[in-house]
Amino acid sequence: MPRGIRWPKGPNCSRWSCEILQTDLMRVSFCCTDTKAQPWLEGLRAALPGAAVEAWAAGAAAADYAIVWAPPQQFFDEQSGLKAIFNIGAGVDALMKLRLPRGVPVVRLDDAGMSVQMAEYVCHAVIRHFREFDGYEADVAQGKWSYRKPRLHADYPVGVMGLGVLGTRVSRALVQFDFPVLGWSRSAKSIPGVQCFSGAAEVNDFLMASRILVCLLPLTPDTENILRHDTLSRLQPGGYVINVARGRHLVDEDLIALIDSGHLAGATLDVFRNEPLPAAHPFWKHPKITVTPHTSARTLREESIGQIAAKIQALQNGAPVATLAGVVDPKKGY
Ligand code: NAP
Ligand code: GLV
Repeated sequence: MPRGIRWPKGPNCSRWSCEILQTDLMRVSFCCTDTKAQPWLEGLRAALPGAAVEAWAAGAAAADYAIVWAPPQQFFDEQSGLKAIFNIGAGVDALMKLRLPRGVPVVRLDDAGMSVQMAEYVCHAVIRHFREFDGYEADVAQGKWSYRKPRLHADYPVGVMGLGVLGTRVSRALVQFDFPVLGWSRSAKSIPGVQCFSGAAEVNDFLMASRILVCLLPLTPDTENILRHDTLSRLQPGGYVINVARGRHLVDEDLIALIDSGHLAGATLDVFRNEPLPAAHPFWKHPKITVTPHTSARTLREESIGQIAAKIQALQNGAPVATLAGVVDPKKGY
């Protein structure tokens, strides 16, 4: 009997056949914190016409597929038959903290429109700093017509930590603006125009060759607090930090101390240890720090629904999990 068949209507549906069909219905459970469920449910139902797609509530029937963002532990504790877990974001750090059902693959969003947003955000932050647009804006606000000495790209090498889906796109975009671009990842990479470094053995060379530092690493035990005093001190004098990955990559006090001492010129931060950023946090009012509300690369609903539905359909048709893009390696944690 085909999976995910619709509940039959009409006089030929005996109680017995309806029960068999109900058992066979593919169930998708949606459990996403901080997300309006209704438009997702409507989009998923349209994309998976044979499936029962429901928002999770405690005690609901066990599902075949879970679509999640920072779900509670109770959600997984109640699931006995999951075939795959789909995360509606790129970062899976919140999921990795939970007890997940053993052997069930976790699939993150694979770009789904995020990398172009991230490239826009990072290029904007780099160029705003490099071209001193804040300074011009302040001058203009005072009615001042003044020029600053043009800066040279060669003096502003940009180091990108993390050369995955987002870091690769960001690096390529920066190359187009003639910045010297360096990249650092766990495994060795080759990206045209990017000087690539890899592994713990090469991180210091990478940092010392960078002036602007962009963090696009996943948050794992290896990368937590990676932006701290000793690593940020290695950046070239007048360094600038752009953190668009996770707040826990950065030691907040170390960044402020290095900016206030003059070693760093400033920072653009999109992610924080506590979100929303608490009103009393010094980042809000620091004159050399720009804050944005975790918005550098948003989940785009239509793209994401299309991507997740296509992967569910592929699995239903027998595709091996390994053929899907974005399957998380539980050992690496990303
Ligand atoms: P990804 O494709 O998994 O890429 C991760 C990169 O980091 C890979 O190049 C990986 O190296 C490298 N890496 C991981 N651990 C490392 C380590 N210990 N040392 C050196 N390199 C390491 O991830 P992505 O899609 O680019 O996303 C990156 C992160 O951005 C997400 O995890 C999320 O936290 C964040 N994010 C933020 C926003 C936002 O709006 N602010 C939006 C989306 C995502 P290998 O290639 O060798 O494995
Ligand atoms: C957003 O931060 C994401 O991980 O997708």
